[in-house]
Amino acid sequence: MSPFCHRCCIASTIRTIDLAFSKQDSLSPLAMTASNPYALETLSNLLKGKVIIVTGGNSGIGKSIVETVARLGARVVIDYRSHPEATEALEQEIGELGGTCFGVQADVGKLEDLQRLVQEAVNRYGRLDVMVNNAGIETRTSILDTTPDDYDKVLNVNLRGVFFATQYAAKQMIAQGGGGRIINISSVHEDWPMPNNTPYCCAKGGVRMLTRTAALELAPHGITLVNVGPGAVATPINDSTMNNPELLAKLNAAIPLGRMAQPEEIASVVGFLASDAAGYITATTIFADGGIMQSSPGL
Ligand code: BGC
Repeated sequence: MSPFCHRCCIASTIRTIDLAFSKQDSLSPLAMTASNPYALETLSNLLKGKVIIVTGGNSGIGKSIVETVARLGARVVIDYRSHPEATEALEQEIGELGGTCFGVQADVGKLEDLQRLVQEAVNRYGRLDVMVNNAGIETRTSILDTTPDDYDKVLNVNLRGVFFATQYAAKQMIAQGGGGRIINISSVHEDWPMPNNTPYCCAKGGVRMLTRTAALELAPHGITLVNVGPGAVATPINDSTMNNPELLAKLNAAIPLGRMAQPEEIASVVGFLASDAAGYITATTIFADGGIMQSSPGL
């Protein structure tokens, strides 16, 4: 079993919350104030009532985000492109936990699909509070090898899809009123070069500026935008590295924390960012990278 089994992590989080409950005397007066919306006892309902779309939600980081926000009380729309059976299994898992979700097959590379995705969320749950643009692909090709087709595929999903998902979500949020939040799962490579992954870096660099610029335009509507910048995460996108012991050892050695992240370690950041507790964060990126962007040979 993985040392970061999701179920165990959540179970231990819930146990921690229970423990905090039973030790209320030792909590600070602030945490115990009934009117404090961030008091410990409200944590398990952090996202209660919020409607959240997660693109690419049936695998990798996206799946973990779906599980986390559902457990925090959100009603979740699981966007996916392929593997309906994985979505069905996830719907069932969340249903058994008492959560609320449903899957929508929609390709973020197709604008009509993106529009339908937002519409289906609204048809089912009446509104949209948080759009998590998570779906992403990479070709791991250099500037010399990238074909026009590689380039189009990566930029289409990772930048054009995020751009228009942001536009459609923001229009819905403005129409319904009350603000909203867009969370883009970017990468350390929005700012940090990754040789031999040039189209991906171009797309993520674009998402960096999309978030900063659109956040300024949408601030008057109460809509905040924030990127989450993961480093190397143990998900299928990194299978080629994880299946190559030499490469994996090299990667781990480059990460100050000495290991890749588990998807839950990115999902927990998204859970916080989707909540009202993060209402003052906009136009920026939160990196969760084990320190890799700051690593130095110490010369
Ligand atoms: C990329 C991975 C890479 C990681 C760390 C991610 O954004 O998808 O391929 O291993 O960044 O460099």
